Amino acid sequence: MTIWDDLSRHAKATADRPILQLFDEHPDRARDFSAEACGFLFDYSKTAIDAPARALLLALAEAAGVAARREAMFSGALINETEGRAVLHTALRNLDRPVQVNGQDVTPALRATHARMARFATDVRQGRFAGQGGAITDVVNIGIGGSDLGPAMAVQALAPYHDGPRCHFVSNVDGAHVHDTLKGLNPETTLVIVASKTFTTVETMTNADAVRRWMGGRVANPAAQFAALSSATDRTAAYGIDPARVFGFDDWVGGRYSVWGPIGLSLMIAIGPAAFDRFLAGAAVMDAHFCDAPPAQNLPVLLALVGIWHNQICGHATRAVLPYDQRLARLPAYLQQLEMESNGKRVAMDGSDLAHHSGPVVWGEPGTNGQHAFYQLIHQGTRVVPCEFLIAATGHEPDLAHQHSLLIANCLAQSEALMRGRSLDEARALMAARSLTGADLERQARHRVFPGSRPSTTLLYPRLTPEVLGGILALYEHRVFVEGVILGLNSFDQWGVELGKELALTLAPVLAGTSAGAGKDASTLHLAARIRALAQG
Ligand code: F6P
Repeated sequence: MTIWDDLSRHAKATADRPILQLFDEHPDRARDFSAEACGFLFDYSKTAIDAPARALLLALAEAAGVAARREAMFSGALINETEGRAVLHTALRNLDRPVQVNGQDVTPALRATHARMARFATDVRQGRFAGQGGAITDVVNIGIGGSDLGPAMAVQALAPYHDGPRCHFVSNVDGAHVHDTLKGLNPETTLVIVASKTFTTVETMTNADAVRRWMGGRVANPAAQFAALSSATDRTAAYGIDPARVFGFDDWVGGRYSVWGPIGLSLMIAIGPAAFDRFLAGAAVMDAHFCDAPPAQNLPVLLALVGIWHNQICGHATRAVLPYDQRLARLPAYLQQLEMESNGKRVAMDGSDLAHHSGPVVWGEPGTNGQHAFYQLIHQGTRVVPCEFLIAATGHEPDLAHQHSLLIANCLAQSEALMRGRSLDEARALMAARSLTGADLERQARHRVFPGSRPSTTLLYPRLTPEVLGGILALYEHRVFVEGVILGLNSFDQWGVELGKELALTLAPVLAGTSAGAGKDASTLHLAARIRALAQG
């Protein structure tokens, strides 16, 4: 009998027990099933996890060797085994702690790059680096995946700290994206940042070419207004970008973990190097907590265990991330890459089939908007969707404090409603109060029943500052790490995105009519033929 079996048996045996009953049985549950650290309060009391389940989950983490694996990651061991790489994004936010990779301390180079970034960002912000038409007014970051989602999300999240040029993000190969972004921008005062670790990503390079053409119409030497965030210095040089404006990072920083280094340059320009360092510091505090706190109080470990309980043990295939914080509107998209590219794997580290389901489908929208869209299904649908609420105690708008109170009230009301539900008797009483009787009352009442016992967690923080944002992202990164270790997979490769990229390359000539598409399936060829016909009018 394994711990997994024990957990499954326990989940089945307690499946019909209302979550509310746990509070009756354990008056101190709210406190006991919460953890506080680094300025965050994580409340998982509104889940079905009870003391025996928690003990088993903690035993699972211990048996999986989370502590040893964590130590291996932080010390620079090659834990990304399928690519033979270390995993050291944590080094980007803790520049004073020496870390050896293949026998060499990597931190002096990290410090030097960080200092160069800070100098360049300051030059841009203070007009010492200018465009042909004067001081930079706009920055366009061209990148995709990890070279876009992190900075795009963080720039929006930290809007109250913006005192630099406006930042824009172009990712999609759909020409509409670059077209709409450039509309209204002045090429003579725009800085273009090409963010691509490999400097070969088709979407990014195609968009970079488009922006270079747009700029070339008005600017004598567009390359002088380009910077690159890339390790491929030969390719950035071939593109004509001055090495002084190229900021590289090593292969042990995965794309989805890269916002802490050069990929964060647009954020640094927007909020300034000092605020950017506060963002790094918040993440470093979470790193230290992850390394030092005992598992039962360790926020990333607890988030991961709640995730494993809901997905692999209870079988809930998705989880909704619901920030009651409009500025975190892009957090769900960011977490989709972080979680699904990391733990969406069907093979274990040793090449065998994964023994359990891979990580969950992650989705979400900010509250309260989501309440008027998909919460209906979360409350009354036939499937259970575990929800993760995030909420700040205070906002950044003192004159709109009453709106923040309303926001908080809505957030708490949703988690309460999900847990409490509404029984048939309560629904009948409601209908009776509206003077309904007989079959009419019965039918109307049934539509107003909420099953309740729908699990949720709440992450509470004081305010969305740079430190808090850094802490939230590091918390989720480590959560994904712990879930990956427990599942026994490699969270740091992404072979699953390769096949589609390769096939897209072989389809381009089919769409252009220069290849018949030998070996392609009939459906794909049929669609391609129709598209060509429609495009020719
Ligand atoms: O989507 C796959 C991926 O490799 C991501 O991991 C990465 O963030 C993205 O593509 C962009 O890659 P690059 O920075 O090399 O352009």
